[in-house]
Amino acid sequence: MLGFPDVRLRRVRESATMRSLVRETRLSASHFIYPLFVTHGEGVKEPIEPMPGCFHLSLDLLAEEAREIASLGIPGVLLFGLPPEKDAVGSGAYDPEGIVQEAIRVIKEAAPSLMVVGDVCLCEYTDHGHCGVIDNGRVDNDKTLDLLARAALAQVQAGADMVAPSSMMDGQVRAIRESLDAAGEQDVPIMGYAAKYASSFYGPFRVAADSTPQFGDRRSYQMDPANARMALREIETDIAEGADIVMVKPALAYLDVIRQARERFDYPLAAYNVSGEYSMVKAASQLGWVDEQPVTMELLTAIRRAGADITISYHAKQVARWLQE
Ligand code: PBG
Repeated sequence: MLGFPDVRLRRVRESATMRSLVRETRLSASHFIYPLFVTHGEGVKEPIEPMPGCFHLSLDLLAEEAREIASLGIPGVLLFGLPPEKDAVGSGAYDPEGIVQEAIRVIKEAAPSLMVVGDVCLCEYTDHGHCGVIDNGRVDNDKTLDLLARAALAQVQAGADMVAPSSMMDGQVRAIRESLDAAGEQDVPIMGYAAKYASSFYGPFRVAADSTPQFGDRRSYQMDPANARMALREIETDIAEGADIVMVKPALAYLDVIRQARERFDYPLAAYNVSGEYSMVKAASQLGWVDEQPVTMELLTAIRRAGADITISYHAKQVARWLQE
């Protein structure tokens, strides 16, 4: 057995140069997707209270924001919409003039190279706040599929470069793939929120997206946090339905799932560093209890080390700036 004194692991830790030479994982702005919350109205840049540094932005302020994100070297944005009105069937999600569809047009015009990813779900658009339509008090899987397919197509027809179904309905990737293909959009990729857990870490997002379910919870469609093997089956089915990129969400409490997904599937893997994960770092650093920059870099490095190719993070802009320093 090799060991001390023949082996001295500290030899490759002595200098910054040597540490850099043997570093296995690096962060780069080019691995990130930055989420944006688009709202109606004009001149709106309203801070999202539990997510310091994040805002509700109206369409007229989006062009500047898009150019800034692109100039930081961040390749893409993930769009969430706050519609002026909600209804039982989430019409705003698939209205060709809906808030996200308008936002896509603005961003593609302002920063054509910035990849625009549409989050495909109904929860921001339904008055009950669930991710699908309700029938007899339950979220009806199959009735929701057609609406998700319409929402994805509306986003793509507005210019979205990719769509990301997040409602956790069975068959959502297939329904969207079929609808895009039938419309001649066979080249637009799908990033499936494949293993999305029913997580309490989404709390701040639901404030941001005004999408808290008005009754019950999401546990009949999102995954049980206790399950890892089930996550691999979720990813397997997304791939079978035609997903081009698969996702694990949240990221930090699920690094084991990211690692297993990395080892099992040769597909690009995304991890969503969700709102609650962001808010905890922000809150603790505002209290002076942790140092935001190194803590953030350490957490985001861990997500990548676990196996994520793409990280969706509210910290993306800040990280891109820190990397430029
Ligand atoms: C929509 C959706 C949610 C998130 C992304 N897409 C909320 C939810 O499922 O309740 C959470 C993102 C975050 O917390 O940052 N279904």
